[in-house]
Amino acid sequence: MQMSRNRKILSAVAVCSAVLLGSMIAVTQSQADTEDKAIATRQGYMKLVVWEAGPLFGMAKGEIAYDAEAATTHAANLKAISQYPVTGLFLDGTSKADRPGKTRAKADIWQDRAKFEAAFDDWRAAVAALAEVAGDGQPALAAAVGDLGKSCGGCHKPFRHKDF
Ligand code: HEC
Repeated sequence: MQMSRNRKILSAVAVCSAVLLGSMIAVTQSQADTEDKAIATRQGYMKLVVWEAGPLFGMAKGEIAYDAEAATTHAANLKAISQYPVTGLFLDGTSKADRPGKTRAKADIWQDRAKFEAAFDDWRAAVAALAEVAGDGQPALAAAVGDLGKSCGGCHKPFRHKDF
């Protein structure tokens, strides 16, 4: 049986539409995939930060015995981590408003990017200062860790929701 010319055109249009729609869905899916990965990666970065900073907070509070060598190592690792520009993982479309339940990132990050970057720079400076004195005794460590804690809060307060 021969298809009429019109039917041929119609079926060609249908095939093209299906291919186009399919590729549009694929693009949307891979974009969502990239966004999910960026969210998971920045959260993993913060976990790494806590992995290194946790013992330093413990020593500052006196919950862990001060150990100059361990403190120096953790602070140096933290400084290395702080060199990574994590703010780049806050992709457009990845605030809590966009992805409720997945992230605590406030939309304010995208509304005032410069302030977010400044909070990150302040934190980096606090980490660098801590790395200078971590081996100089518990009181010096405790003071620098106090400043570090403030710099975490300096970003979390304006830019991180309490809940997911
Ligand atoms: C420049 C901003 C900024 C700085 C500085 C910062 N954080 Fe965060 N942190 C965030 C944001 C934003 C989130 C939410 C990320 C998300 O849910 O997508 C977060 C999430 C976290 C989380 C939760 C991670 C998870 O698994 O969901 C922990 C823990 C954390 N931060 C600890 C710290 C500590 C400790 C410091 C300081 C030593 C610190 N952060 C410094 C912005 C910052």
